[in-house]
Amino acid sequence: MERMKIVNALNPAAVGTEVTLAGWVRTARHSKGGFSFVALNDGSCMANIQLVAGGELANYDADVLHLTTGCSLVVRGTLVESQGKGQAVELQAAELTVLGGADETNPIQQKRHTFEFLRTKAHLRSRTNSFGAVFRVRNVICRAVHDFFQQRGFLYVHTPLITASDCEGAGELFRVSTLDHANLPKTDDGAVDYDKEFFGKETFLTVSGQLEVEPFCCSLGDVYTFGPTFRAENSNTPRHLAEFWMVEPELAFANIDDDADCAEAMLKYVFQTVLDECAEDLAFFNQRIDKTLIETLTHIVATPFERISYTAAMEILQAADKEWEFAPEWGCDLQTEHERYLAEEHFKTPVAVMHYPESIKPFYMYRNEPDEQGRRTVRAMDILVPKVGEIIGGSQREDRLDVLEERMKECGLTPEEYWWYVDLRRYGTIPHAGFGLGLERLVLFCTGMANIRDVIPYPRTPRTAF
Ligand code: 4AD
Ligand code: MG
Repeated sequence: MERMKIVNALNPAAVGTEVTLAGWVRTARHSKGGFSFVALNDGSCMANIQLVAGGELANYDADVLHLTTGCSLVVRGTLVESQGKGQAVELQAAELTVLGGADETNPIQQKRHTFEFLRTKAHLRSRTNSFGAVFRVRNVICRAVHDFFQQRGFLYVHTPLITASDCEGAGELFRVSTLDHANLPKTDDGAVDYDKEFFGKETFLTVSGQLEVEPFCCSLGDVYTFGPTFRAENSNTPRHLAEFWMVEPELAFANIDDDADCAEAMLKYVFQTVLDECAEDLAFFNQRIDKTLIETLTHIVATPFERISYTAAMEILQAADKEWEFAPEWGCDLQTEHERYLAEEHFKTPVAVMHYPESIKPFYMYRNEPDEQGRRTVRAMDILVPKVGEIIGGSQREDRLDVLEERMKECGLTPEEYWWYVDLRRYGTIPHAGFGLGLERLVLFCTGMANIRDVIPYPRTPRTAF
Protein backbone atom coordinates (compact mmCIF):
# COMPACT_ATOMS: atom_id res chain seq x y z
CA MET A 1 0.00 0.00 0.00
CA GLU A 2 1.49 3.32 -1.09
CA ARG A 3 -0.02 5.60 1.56
CA MET A 4 -0.16 9.34 1.04
CA LYS A 5 -0.07 11.53 4.12
CA ILE A 6 -3.04 13.80 4.59
CA VAL A 7 -0.80 16.87 4.78
CA ASN A 8 0.17 16.17 1.16
CA ALA A 9 -3.29 15.11 0.04
CA LEU A 10 -4.65 18.50 1.15
CA ASN A 11 -2.28 20.29 -1.20
CA PRO A 12 -4.49 21.60 -4.06
CA ALA A 13 -1.80 20.46 -6.50
CA ALA A 14 -2.82 16.87 -5.72
CA VAL A 15 -6.39 17.33 -7.01
CA GLY A 16 -7.27 14.79 -9.69
CA THR A 17 -4.91 12.06 -8.47
CA GLU A 18 -5.89 8.67 -7.15
CA VAL A 19 -4.45 8.03 -3.69
CA THR A 20 -4.64 5.80 -0.65
CA LEU A 21 -5.01 7.45 2.75
CA ALA A 22 -5.16 5.95 6.22
CA GLY A 23 -5.98 7.38 9.61
CA TRP A 24 -8.50 7.72 12.42
CA VAL A 25 -12.04 9.00 12.13
CA ARG A 26 -12.68 12.27 13.91
CA THR A 27 -16.35 12.55 12.93
CA ALA A 28 -18.72 10.69 10.65
CA ARG A 29 -21.98 12.16 9.33
CA HIS A 30 -24.40 9.99 7.42
CA SER A 31 -26.92 11.73 5.20
CA LYS A 32 -30.31 10.40 4.31
CA GLY A 33 -29.38 10.54 0.63
CA GLY A 34 -27.22 7.47 1.06
CA PHE A 35 -23.77 8.92 1.44
CA SER A 36 -21.48 9.83 4.32
CA PHE A 37 -18.97 12.53 5.18
CA VAL A 38 -16.05 11.30 7.24
CA ALA A 39 -13.39 13.60 8.72
CA LEU A 40 -10.13 11.67 8.74
CA ASN A 41 -6.91 12.59 10.56
CA ASP A 42 -3.55 10.83 10.36
CA GLY A 43 -1.45 13.13 12.56
CA SER A 44 0.58 14.53 9.68
CA CYS A 45 -1.14 17.89 10.16
CA MET A 46 -3.84 19.51 12.24
CA ALA A 47 -6.41 19.51 9.43
CA ASN A 48 -8.67 16.56 8.71
CA ILE A 49 -9.49 15.52 5.19
CA GLN A 50 -13.12 15.01 4.30
CA LEU A 51 -13.99 11.67 2.74
CA VAL A 52 -17.16 11.41 0.73
CA ALA A 53 -18.35 7.80 0.73
CA GLY A 54 -21.44 6.88 -1.24
CA GLY A 55 -23.92 4.01 -1.13
CA GLU A 56 -22.27 2.43 -4.17
CA LEU A 57 -19.45 1.16 -1.94
CA ALA A 58 -19.97 -2.59 -1.47
CA ASN A 59 -19.53 -2.33 2.30
CA TYR A 60 -21.44 0.94 2.71
CA ASP A 61 -24.21 -0.49 4.89
CA ALA A 62 -21.99 -2.99 6.67
CA ASP A 63 -19.07 -0.66 7.51
CA VAL A 64 -19.36 2.98 6.50
CA LEU A 65 -22.67 3.53 8.25
CA HIS A 66 -21.11 2.27 11.48
CA LEU A 67 -18.03 4.49 11.48
CA THR A 68 -17.62 6.39 14.73
CA THR A 69 -14.99 8.62 16.33
CA GLY A 70 -11.74 6.76 16.78
CA CYS A 71 -12.20 4.05 14.12
CA SER A 72 -9.14 3.42 11.97
CA LEU A 73 -9.44 2.90 8.24
CA VAL A 74 -7.72 2.79 4.87
CA VAL A 75 -9.37 4.46 1.94
CA ARG A 76 -8.60 4.61 -1.77
CA GLY A 77 -10.15 7.24 -3.95
CA THR A 78 -9.73 10.37 -6.01
CA LEU A 79 -8.83 13.78 -4.63
CA VAL A 80 -11.34 16.33 -5.88
CA GLU A 81 -12.01 20.01 -5.36
CA SER A 82 -14.37 20.32 -2.45
CA GLN A 83 -17.82 21.80 -2.98
CA GLY A 84 -18.28 22.32 0.73
CA LYS A 85 -17.00 25.13 2.91
CA GLY A 86 -13.91 24.84 5.10
CA GLN A 87 -11.73 22.73 2.85
CA ALA A 88 -10.28 23.00 -0.66
CA VAL A 89 -9.78 19.29 -1.26
CA GLU A 90 -11.77 16.17 -0.37
CA LEU A 91 -11.54 12.50 -1.24
CA GLN A 92 -14.19 10.71 -3.26
CA ALA A 93 -13.91 7.21 -1.79
CA ALA A 94 -13.80 4.21 -4.15
CA GLU A 95 -12.83 1.59 -1.61
CA LEU A 96 -12.84 1.82 2.18
CA THR A 97 -11.55 -0.79 4.63
CA VAL A 98 -12.11 -0.50 8.35
CA LEU A 99 -9.00 -1.55 10.27
CA GLY A 100 -10.24 -1.14 13.80
CA GLY A 101 -13.55 -0.20 15.33
CA ALA A 102 -14.05 2.10 18.32
CA ASP A 103 -17.17 2.28 20.40
CA GLU A 104 -18.60 4.75 22.89
CA THR A 105 -16.16 3.55 25.59
CA ASN A 106 -13.36 5.26 23.62
CA PRO A 107 -12.23 7.99 26.04
CA ILE A 108 -11.43 10.39 23.21
CA GLN A 109 -14.71 11.60 21.79
CA GLN A 110 -15.31 14.56 19.53
CA LYS A 111 -15.82 17.08 22.31
CA ARG A 112 -13.65 19.28 24.53
CA HIS A 113 -11.70 17.31 27.09
CA THR A 114 -9.76 19.02 29.85
CA PHE A 115 -5.97 18.71 29.86
CA GLU A 116 -6.24 17.17 33.33
CA PHE A 117 -8.47 14.42 32.02
CA LEU A 118 -6.26 13.83 29.00
CA ARG A 119 -3.19 13.48 31.25
CA THR A 120 -4.79 10.29 32.55
CA LYS A 121 -5.00 9.06 28.94
CA ALA A 122 -1.44 9.80 27.85
CA HIS A 123 -1.58 6.88 25.40
CA LEU A 124 -4.52 8.39 23.51
CA ARG A 125 -4.20 12.12 23.97
CA SER A 126 -1.99 12.57 20.90
CA ARG A 127 -5.17 11.84 18.90
CA THR A 128 -6.52 15.25 19.88
CA ASN A 129 -5.88 18.54 18.09
CA SER A 130 -4.00 20.12 21.00
CA PHE A 131 -1.63 17.24 21.66
CA GLY A 132 -1.09 16.46 17.99
CA ALA A 133 0.04 20.08 17.63
CA VAL A 134 2.26 19.94 20.74
CA PHE A 135 4.12 16.88 19.54
CA ARG A 136 4.54 18.13 15.99
CA VAL A 137 6.02 21.39 17.35
CA ARG A 138 8.21 19.45 19.79
CA ASN A 139 9.58 17.47 16.85
CA VAL A 140 10.40 20.61 14.85
CA ILE A 141 12.08 22.19 17.89
CA CYS A 142 14.35 19.16 18.31
CA ARG A 143 15.32 19.18 14.68
CA ALA A 144 15.98 22.93 14.81
CA VAL A 145 18.25 22.45 17.84
CA HIS A 146 20.30 19.84 15.98
CA ASP A 147 20.39 21.97 12.83
CA PHE A 148 21.55 25.02 14.77
CA PHE A 149 24.50 23.21 16.32
CA GLN A 150 25.37 21.08 13.30
CA GLN A 151 25.44 24.13 11.03
CA ARG A 152 27.93 25.71 13.42
CA GLY A 153 30.19 22.67 13.53
CA PHE A 154 29.23 21.38 16.99
CA LEU A 155 29.66 17.62 17.42
CA TYR A 156 26.81 15.63 18.93
CA VAL A 157 28.18 13.56 21.83
CA HIS A 158 26.16 10.89 23.66
CA THR A 159 26.80 11.16 27.36
CA PRO A 160 25.82 8.33 29.72
CA LEU A 161 22.58 8.23 31.66
CA ILE A 162 24.07 6.19 34.48
CA THR A 163 26.65 8.10 36.50
CA ALA A 164 28.41 8.08 39.84
CA SER A 165 28.53 11.90 40.14
CA ASP A 166 26.02 14.58 41.12
CA CYS A 167 26.72 17.35 38.62
CA GLU A 168 24.49 19.97 40.19
CA GLY A 169 25.31 18.99 43.77
CA ALA A 170 21.68 19.30 44.79
CA GLY A 171 21.33 15.68 45.90
CA GLU A 172 18.25 15.15 43.72
CA LEU A 173 19.39 11.80 42.42
CA PHE A 174 17.49 8.67 41.48
CA ARG A 175 19.46 5.64 42.57
CA VAL A 176 20.35 2.93 40.06
CA SER A 177 20.61 -0.29 42.01
CA THR A 178 20.45 -4.03 41.50
CA LEU A 179 20.55 -4.85 45.21
CA ASP A 180 17.61 -6.57 46.88
CA HIS A 181 16.10 -3.77 48.91
CA ALA A 182 14.33 -6.14 51.23
CA ASN A 183 17.64 -7.72 52.10
CA LEU A 184 20.49 -5.26 51.68
CA PRO A 185 24.05 -6.59 52.00
CA LYS A 186 25.84 -5.00 54.93
CA THR A 187 29.49 -4.40 55.79
CA ASP A 188 30.92 -5.44 59.17
CA ASP A 189 30.04 -2.06 60.65
CA GLY A 190 26.42 -2.37 59.55
CA ALA A 191 26.46 0.06 56.62
CA VAL A 192 25.05 -0.88 53.19
CA ASP A 193 27.77 -2.69 51.26
CA TYR A 194 27.77 -0.80 47.96
CA ASP A 195 30.69 -2.92 46.82
CA LYS A 196 28.00 -5.51 46.07
CA GLU A 197 26.27 -3.13 43.66
CA PHE A 198 26.34 -3.90 39.94
CA PHE A 199 29.01 -1.26 39.39
CA GLY A 200 30.78 -1.92 42.69
CA LYS A 201 29.68 1.50 43.95
CA GLU A 202 26.62 3.75 44.24
CA THR A 203 25.28 4.95 40.90
CA PHE A 204 22.46 7.24 39.83
CA LEU A 205 20.52 8.51 36.84
CA THR A 206 22.21 11.63 35.55
CA VAL A 207 20.91 15.12 36.36
CA SER A 208 23.00 16.62 33.54
CA GLY A 209 25.42 15.43 30.87
CA GLN A 210 27.70 18.40 31.41
CA LEU A 211 30.53 16.82 33.37
CA GLU A 212 30.80 14.01 30.85
CA VAL A 213 30.58 16.28 27.79
CA GLU A 214 33.33 18.65 28.99
CA PRO A 215 36.16 16.19 28.18
CA PHE A 216 34.92 16.09 24.57
CA CYS A 217 34.88 19.88 24.42
CA CYS A 218 38.48 19.82 25.66
CA SER A 219 39.52 17.63 22.74
CA LEU A 220 37.07 17.98 19.85
CA GLY A 221 36.11 21.60 20.40
CA ASP A 222 32.48 22.72 20.29
CA VAL A 223 30.18 19.84 21.23
CA TYR A 224 26.68 19.25 22.56
CA THR A 225 24.74 16.52 24.24
CA PHE A 226 20.96 16.18 24.04
CA GLY A 227 19.21 13.53 26.05
CA PRO A 228 17.04 12.66 29.01
CA THR A 229 17.97 13.84 32.50
CA PHE A 230 16.43 12.94 35.83
CA ARG A 231 15.81 14.88 39.00
CA ALA A 232 14.22 13.56 42.15
CA GLU A 233 13.16 17.00 43.30
CA ASN A 234 9.80 16.91 44.94
CA SER A 235 8.48 19.90 43.02
CA ASN A 236 4.86 19.64 42.05
CA THR A 237 4.88 22.69 39.83
CA PRO A 238 3.79 23.32 36.25
CA ARG A 239 7.50 23.71 35.34
CA HIS A 240 9.15 20.65 36.88
CA LEU A 241 9.41 17.07 35.70
CA ALA A 242 11.29 14.18 37.27
CA GLU A 243 12.38 13.10 33.78
CA PHE A 244 13.02 15.78 31.17
CA TRP A 245 15.23 16.36 28.15
CA MET A 246 18.15 18.73 28.16
CA VAL A 247 20.23 20.26 25.37
CA GLU A 248 23.74 20.95 26.63
CA PRO A 249 26.29 22.61 24.36
CA GLU A 250 29.85 23.11 25.54
CA LEU A 251 31.85 25.83 23.79
CA ALA A 252 35.62 25.56 23.52
CA PHE A 253 37.86 28.61 24.01
CA ALA A 254 34.83 30.57 25.14
CA ASN A 255 33.81 32.78 28.04
CA ILE A 256 30.50 33.65 29.66
CA ASP A 257 29.63 36.29 27.05
CA ASP A 258 30.21 33.82 24.21
CA ASP A 259 27.95 31.46 26.12
CA ALA A 260 25.14 34.03 26.35
CA ASP A 261 25.58 34.91 22.65
CA CYS A 262 25.23 31.25 21.70
CA ALA A 263 22.16 30.74 23.89
CA GLU A 264 20.45 33.80 22.44
CA ALA A 265 21.23 32.82 18.85
CA MET A 266 20.01 29.27 19.45
CA LEU A 267 16.70 30.33 20.99
CA LYS A 268 16.05 32.79 18.16
CA TYR A 269 16.89 30.16 15.57
CA VAL A 270 14.42 27.74 17.14
CA PHE A 271 11.66 30.36 17.41
CA GLN A 272 12.12 31.39 13.78
CA THR A 273 12.04 27.77 12.62
CA VAL A 274 8.85 27.11 14.56
CA LEU A 275 7.27 30.26 13.09
CA ASP A 276 8.29 29.18 9.59
CA GLU A 277 7.43 25.50 9.77
CA CYS A 278 4.57 25.14 12.26
CA ALA A 279 2.24 27.87 11.02
CA GLU A 280 -0.92 25.74 11.24
CA ASP A 281 -0.20 24.47 14.75
CA LEU A 282 0.91 27.90 16.00
CA ALA A 283 -2.27 29.47 14.65
CA PHE A 284 -4.21 26.92 16.71
CA PHE A 285 -2.25 27.70 19.89
CA ASN A 286 -2.59 31.40 19.21
CA GLN A 287 -6.35 31.07 18.96
CA ARG A 288 -6.98 28.57 21.76
CA ILE A 289 -4.18 28.88 24.29
CA ASP A 290 -2.37 32.22 24.16
CA LYS A 291 -3.57 35.09 21.98
CA THR A 292 -0.17 36.81 22.04
CA LEU A 293 1.92 33.74 21.15
CA ILE A 294 2.84 34.48 17.53
CA GLU A 295 3.34 38.18 18.22
CA THR A 296 5.62 37.36 21.16
CA LEU A 297 7.76 34.88 19.25
CA THR A 298 8.04 37.24 16.28
CA HIS A 299 9.01 40.16 18.50
CA ILE A 300 11.63 38.15 20.39
CA VAL A 301 13.35 36.97 17.22
CA ALA A 302 13.81 40.59 16.14
CA THR A 303 14.92 42.06 19.49
CA PRO A 304 18.20 41.72 21.39
CA PHE A 305 17.85 39.97 24.77
CA GLU A 306 18.52 42.00 27.90
CA ARG A 307 21.65 41.15 29.86
CA ILE A 308 22.12 42.16 33.47
CA SER A 309 24.10 41.05 36.48
CA TYR A 310 22.45 39.20 39.33
CA THR A 311 23.30 42.16 41.56
CA ALA A 312 21.51 44.56 39.21
CA ALA A 313 18.56 42.15 39.02
CA MET A 314 18.31 42.17 42.82
CA GLU A 315 18.24 45.96 42.81
CA ILE A 316 15.37 45.94 40.28
CA LEU A 317 13.45 43.39 42.32
CA GLN A 318 13.97 45.23 45.59
CA ALA A 319 12.81 48.49 44.01
CA ALA A 320 9.71 46.84 42.54
CA ASP A 321 6.35 47.67 44.02
CA LYS A 322 5.33 44.02 44.54
CA GLU A 323 4.06 41.75 47.26
CA TRP A 324 6.61 38.93 47.14
CA GLU A 325 6.14 35.49 48.58
CA PHE A 326 9.94 35.42 49.01
CA ALA A 327 11.55 38.82 49.62
CA PRO A 328 14.42 39.31 47.15
CA GLU A 329 17.71 39.50 48.98
CA TRP A 330 21.31 39.38 47.72
CA GLY A 331 22.57 35.85 48.21
CA CYS A 332 19.23 34.14 47.69
CA ASP A 333 18.37 32.27 44.54
CA LEU A 334 15.84 33.86 42.21
CA GLN A 335 12.39 32.38 42.73
CA THR A 336 9.99 31.81 39.85
CA GLU A 337 8.04 34.94 40.89
CA HIS A 338 11.27 36.99 40.60
CA GLU A 339 12.25 35.43 37.29
CA ARG A 340 8.85 36.06 35.82
CA TYR A 341 8.74 39.64 37.10
CA LEU A 342 12.04 40.42 35.41
CA ALA A 343 11.20 38.84 32.06
CA GLU A 344 7.46 39.44 31.96
CA GLU A 345 6.86 42.76 33.65
CA HIS A 346 10.13 44.65 33.90
CA PHE A 347 11.93 43.89 30.63
CA LYS A 348 9.01 42.26 28.77
CA THR A 349 11.56 40.19 26.85
CA PRO A 350 14.03 37.38 27.57
CA VAL A 351 16.81 38.41 29.90
CA ALA A 352 20.17 36.80 30.67
CA VAL A 353 21.04 37.19 34.35
CA MET A 354 24.76 36.75 34.94
CA HIS A 355 27.26 36.44 37.78
CA TYR A 356 25.30 34.83 40.61
CA PRO A 357 26.52 34.50 44.19
CA GLU A 358 28.95 31.62 44.50
CA SER A 359 27.11 30.13 47.45
CA ILE A 360 24.00 29.22 45.42
CA LYS A 361 25.75 27.70 42.40
CA PRO A 362 27.54 24.39 41.76
CA PHE A 363 31.25 23.78 42.15
CA TYR A 364 32.22 23.92 38.48
CA MET A 365 31.48 27.60 37.77
CA TYR A 366 34.31 30.09 37.19
CA ARG A 367 35.01 32.18 40.27
CA ASN A 368 35.08 35.97 39.80
CA GLU A 369 37.19 38.41 41.78
CA PRO A 370 35.21 39.59 44.83
CA ASP A 371 33.11 42.74 44.21
CA GLU A 372 33.69 46.09 46.01
CA GLN A 373 31.77 44.77 48.97
CA GLY A 374 33.85 41.59 49.06
CA ARG A 375 30.99 39.42 47.81
CA ARG A 376 31.86 36.38 45.73
CA THR A 377 30.15 35.63 42.45
CA VAL A 378 30.66 33.04 39.72
CA ARG A 379 30.30 33.33 35.97
CA ALA A 380 26.83 31.84 35.79
CA MET A 381 24.26 32.74 33.16
CA ASP A 382 20.54 31.99 33.38
CA ILE A 383 18.12 32.97 30.65
CA LEU A 384 14.67 33.92 31.87
CA VAL A 385 11.67 34.22 29.58
CA PRO A 386 8.15 35.55 30.12
CA LYS A 387 5.63 33.05 31.54
CA VAL A 388 8.12 30.22 31.97
CA GLY A 389 10.94 31.84 33.98
CA GLU A 390 14.31 30.05 33.78
CA ILE A 391 14.64 28.25 30.46
CA ILE A 392 18.45 28.02 30.31
CA GLY A 393 21.07 27.64 33.02
CA GLY A 394 24.75 27.84 32.13
CA SER A 395 28.17 29.09 33.05
CA GLN A 396 31.79 29.56 32.16
CA ARG A 397 33.63 26.63 33.74
CA GLU A 398 36.37 26.88 36.31
CA ASP A 399 39.49 26.04 34.34
CA ARG A 400 42.12 26.80 37.01
CA LEU A 401 43.19 23.61 38.77
CA ASP A 402 43.88 25.18 42.16
CA VAL A 403 40.64 27.17 42.28
CA LEU A 404 38.60 24.17 41.17
CA GLU A 405 40.09 21.92 43.84
CA GLU A 406 39.53 24.53 46.51
CA ARG A 407 35.94 25.03 45.41
CA MET A 408 35.24 21.30 45.34
CA LYS A 409 36.44 20.94 48.89
CA GLU A 410 34.27 23.88 49.96
CA CYS A 411 31.30 22.07 48.40
CA GLY A 412 32.14 18.88 50.29
CA LEU A 413 33.40 17.02 47.22
CA THR A 414 36.65 15.11 47.00
CA PRO A 415 38.74 16.03 43.94
CA GLU A 416 40.00 12.41 43.91
CA GLU A 417 36.50 11.16 43.20
CA TYR A 418 36.24 13.52 40.27
CA TRP A 419 39.84 12.81 39.19
CA TRP A 420 38.87 12.50 35.53
CA TYR A 421 37.12 15.89 35.60
CA VAL A 422 40.03 17.50 37.41
CA ASP A 423 42.46 15.99 34.85
CA LEU A 424 41.05 18.36 32.23
CA ARG A 425 42.52 21.25 34.25
CA ARG A 426 45.78 19.38 34.75
CA TYR A 427 46.48 18.67 31.09
CA GLY A 428 45.94 21.43 28.54
CA THR A 429 43.24 23.35 30.34
CA ILE A 430 41.23 25.82 28.24
CA PRO A 431 38.57 28.43 28.91
CA HIS A 432 35.21 26.89 28.08
CA ALA A 433 31.56 27.51 28.79
CA GLY A 434 28.21 25.87 28.23
CA PHE A 435 24.58 25.78 29.17
CA GLY A 436 21.62 23.51 29.67
CA LEU A 437 18.34 24.20 27.91
CA GLY A 438 15.28 22.45 29.31
CA LEU A 439 13.55 21.10 26.21
CA GLU A 440 10.09 20.95 27.77
CA ARG A 441 10.33 24.53 29.01
CA LEU A 442 11.20 25.53 25.47
CA VAL A 443 8.18 23.63 24.15
CA LEU A 444 6.02 25.40 26.75
CA PHE A 445 7.29 28.73 25.53
CA CYS A 446 6.79 27.93 21.84
CA THR A 447 3.24 26.63 22.28
CA GLY A 448 1.90 28.81 25.07
CA MET A 449 0.89 25.65 26.95
CA ALA A 450 0.75 26.24 30.69
CA ASN A 451 1.74 22.89 32.20
CA ILE A 452 4.98 21.04 31.52
CA ARG A 453 3.14 17.72 31.89
CA ASP A 454 1.35 18.53 28.65
CA VAL A 455 4.43 18.93 26.44
CA ILE A 456 6.21 15.60 27.05
CA PRO A 457 4.74 12.32 25.78
CA TYR A 458 4.74 10.57 29.17
CA PRO A 459 5.17 12.95 32.11
CA ARG A 460 7.03 11.62 35.14
CA THR A 461 6.26 13.58 38.29
CA PRO A 462 6.06 12.71 41.99
CA ARG A 463 3.68 9.77 42.45
CA THR A 464 2.95 9.48 38.72
CA ALA A 465 4.50 6.93 36.40
CA PHE A 466 3.11 3.91 34.61
O1 4AD B 1 20.09 25.08 35.51
P1 4AD B 1 20.33 23.60 35.41
O2 4AD B 1 20.21 22.82 36.65
O3 4AD B 1 21.77 23.46 34.75
C1 4AD B 1 22.49 22.31 34.59
O4 4AD B 1 22.09 21.21 34.82
C2 4AD B 1 23.83 22.54 33.97
N1 4AD B 1 24.67 21.39 34.27
C3 4AD B 1 23.66 22.77 32.50
C4 4AD B 1 24.95 23.02 31.77
O5 4AD B 1 25.60 24.02 32.03
N2 4AD B 1 25.35 22.15 30.85
O6 4AD B 1 19.32 23.00 34.34
C5 4AD B 1 19.29 23.49 33.02
C6 4AD B 1 17.88 23.69 32.55
C7 4AD B 1 17.06 24.67 33.37
O7 4AD B 1 17.33 26.00 32.98
C8 4AD B 1 15.64 24.25 33.03
O8 4AD B 1 15.24 24.77 31.77
C9 4AD B 1 15.77 22.75 32.89
O9 4AD B 1 17.14 22.47 32.65
N3 4AD B 1 15.33 22.06 34.10
C10 4AD B 1 14.17 21.40 34.22
N4 4AD B 1 13.16 21.22 33.36
C11 4AD B 1 12.11 20.48 33.77
N5 4AD B 1 12.02 19.91 35.00
C12 4AD B 1 13.01 20.07 35.90
N6 4AD B 1 12.91 19.47 37.10
C13 4AD B 1 14.15 20.84 35.52
N7 4AD B 1 15.30 21.18 36.15
C14 4AD B 1 16.00 21.92 35.27
MG1 MG C 1 19.36 26.40 36.92
